[in-house]
Amino acid sequence: MLEIPESYRRFVLAARPRGPVVPENFRLETVPVPALAEGEVLIRNHYLSLDPYMRGRMSKAASYAASQALDETMIGGTVGQVVASRNEFYQVGDYVNGTLGWAEMGVSDGLLLRKLDTTRIPLSAYLGVVGMPGMAAWYGFNQIMEAAAGETVVVSAASGAVGSVVGQLARLRGCRVVGIAGGPEKCSYVVDELGFDACVDYKAGNLEADLAAATPDGVDAIFENVGGACFDAALARTNAFARIALCGLIGGFNGADMSIKNTRALLLNRLTLRGFIITEHMEYWQQGLQELAVLVANKQIKYRETVAQGLDAAPQAFIGLLQGHNFGKQLVKLI
Ligand SMILES: NC(=O)c1ccc[n+]([C@@H]2O[C@H](COP(=O)([O-])OP(=O)(O)OC[C@H]3O[C@@H](n4cnc5c(N)ncnc54)[C@H](OP(=O)(O)O)[C@@H]3O)[C@@H](O)[C@H]2O)c1
Repeated sequence: MLEIPESYRRFVLAARPRGPVVPENFRLETVPVPALAEGEVLIRNHYLSLDPYMRGRMSKAASYAASQALDETMIGGTVGQVVASRNEFYQVGDYVNGTLGWAEMGVSDGLLLRKLDTTRIPLSAYLGVVGMPGMAAWYGFNQIMEAAAGETVVVSAASGAVGSVVGQLARLRGCRVVGIAGGPEKCSYVVDELGFDACVDYKAGNLEADLAAATPDGVDAIFENVGGACFDAALARTNAFARIALCGLIGGFNGADMSIKNTRALLLNRLTLRGFIITEHMEYWQQGLQELAVLVANKQIKYRETVAQGLDAAPQAFIGLLQGHNFGKQLVKLI
C-alpha cells in the first residue's frame, strides 16, 4: 500500500511572459488530492520533464498547439508511480509516463498513460532519450535526414536531450558527425563521451570558419535545433541535395534575431527542408521507442541529465534551460 497524502503542490501559469520568462510567471499552489472516479488512477510523480516547447505554450502567439491556460497546472511530461487505481489496466505500484504537468501528483483516466519497464532503463530516461526528445531525434534522423554511411551530418544543441541522440544515431550509422554546442565543456563531452567526430563551440566567436574546418567534405544533412547563426553556418556548408530536419528554433525564444542570410543555398544546392512536430507522428513511436530502448539498455547510446531537486526548483530550472544552463536532459526530481 503506497501512502496517499491529503494535498499536493503544483505550479500554475500566473502570467504570460513579456520578454524572458521570470519566476513571477508561475504560482505555487497547494490543492487537495481528489477522490477518484471510476476508470481513474492517482499518480505520484517522481520526475517532471522541462522542455523548450513550454515557452511557446506560455505565450498567446498562434502556434501548432493551444496556449497554456492561465491559473491551470503548467503543462509537462511526467513519470511516476500509481498510488491508487479505479482502472483495471493499472495497478498500485505500476510505473507510468503521462502528462500530469508541474505537480507532485495527478489524476489520469489512463488513456494517455504508458506503462514503463524500469528493470533495464531508469525511470527518468523515459522523459528523455526513451521519451519525447528521443523520438524527435529518431524521427528527424530516420524519416527526414536519411543520412547514409560516410555522409557528413551537422547537429546543433548537440549536447542536449534531442541533439545528443541524433548525433549518436548518426555515428551508429557510420556518418561523419559534427555537433554545434555552447562552450568547451559541452563540446568535449560531445566528442569524448558521445563519439561525435568534431564539435564546434559557437560561443568561441569563429562559428563559420570552425564549422568549415570541421566539415571538409561539406554537409549532407542538418538536424536544426537552434536556428539563426548556427543554422546559417550549416546552410553555408551544404552539398547538393542535402536534407534538413528542422526540429527547433530555441535560439529565438528570448527574442534574438533569427534571420538567415544563406537562403540562396536552399535553391543553389537544391535542399530539402522539413519542419516537424513529433507528437503528430505517433504512428512511429512504438518502433522508435523500442529501438531507442534497446540502444540505451546496451549502452550504445549514452545520455546525460541535469536534475533540479524538488518542485520549488522548477521555475528557475526552466529559466536556466532557456539560457542554455542545462547540460543534457533537464529534469526536476519530485520525490
Ligand atoms: N519538433 C519537435 O517535435 C521537437 C521535440 C523536442 C524538442 N524540440 C526542439 O529541439 C530543440 C532541443 O530541445 P531539447 O529538449 O533537446 O533541449 P536541450 O538541447 O536539452 O536544451 C536546450 C539547449 O539549447 C541550446 N541553445 C542554443 N542556443 C540557445 C539560446 N539562444 N538560448 C537557449 N538555449 C540555446 C543550449 O545548449 P548550448 O549551451 O549548447 O547552446 C541548451 O542547453 C529545441 O529547439 C526544442 O524546441 C522539438
